[in-house]
Amino acid sequence: MSLVDIRGLSACYGDFQALFDMTCEVGEGETIAIIGANGAGKSTFLKAIAGVVPAPSEAILFDGKPIGGLRSMELVARGIALVPEGRCLFASLSVEENLLMGAYAKRPGEWSLAKVYGVFPRLRERRHQSATTLSGGEQQMVAIGRALMSNPRLLMCDEISLGLAPSVIANIYQALGPLKGRHMAMLIVEQDIHQAVSFSDRLYCFQEGRVSLTGQSTAVTHAQISSAYFGA
Ligand SMILES: Nc1ncnc2c1ncn2[C@@H]1O[C@H](COP(=O)(O)OP(=O)(O)OP(=O)(O)O)[C@@H](O)[C@H]1O
Ligand SMILES: [Mg+2]
Repeated sequence: MSLVDIRGLSACYGDFQALFDMTCEVGEGETIAIIGANGAGKSTFLKAIAGVVPAPSEAILFDGKPIGGLRSMELVARGIALVPEGRCLFASLSVEENLLMGAYAKRPGEWSLAKVYGVFPRLRERRHQSATTLSGGEQQMVAIGRALMSNPRLLMCDEISLGLAPSVIANIYQALGPLKGRHMAMLIVEQDIHQAVSFSDRLYCFQEGRVSLTGQSTAVTHAQISSAYFGA
């Protein structure tokens, strides 16, 4: 049984339909990349799973149970964590306080402040600093660390590379690499196709709210991706 099983997921903003009858599976411990052009529906898809955008109950199964439309807090408690685009840190709080906010659901598990600092040593040095005074890369590390503190079974990251220097992006993916598999599946939205392919087990390409390509990341060709991306 898949950890996440999405069947016939549609999502709307008022009259505007952003997702059309989408199907996607995420196995236990699997790392999936989602790629696609601007406006393809990538963020909406993650938000529907995380309870930020409404979804029909039966369209999203998590651990075999329907979770579509549940509130975000309930979903965090079940093990679904979203690192949103733009990070959404608490500006008035320190690094450490931001990280502790991720633990409010008190799911049992291996993650602790010490473990997050082990993954991102820079954050230990800066733990008393206000989150908004950090560099963009450090803020992204806090956002990921905060999500890990909820002990997720599914970690979803929306464009962690956005606006960051290549060396910082490499640093963050290097830190995430050892977390792949084990007890946590990952769903990563990534604009950098090379990064998406090399980091994931499988990938999905979205186009105008539909899945235009899916396959093993090592098996999909540049031509397939290009056609699925642009609809050529
Ligand atoms: N709050 C909203 N209200 C109305 N329409 C929205 C809203 N959020 C997104 N949309 C629309 O839904 C579609 C999908 O948006 P979404 O943000 O999911 O795309 P995306 O693939 O994440 O794009 P990007 O790569 O630019 O982040 C777009 O046409 C967008 O304009
Ligand atoms: Mg987006």
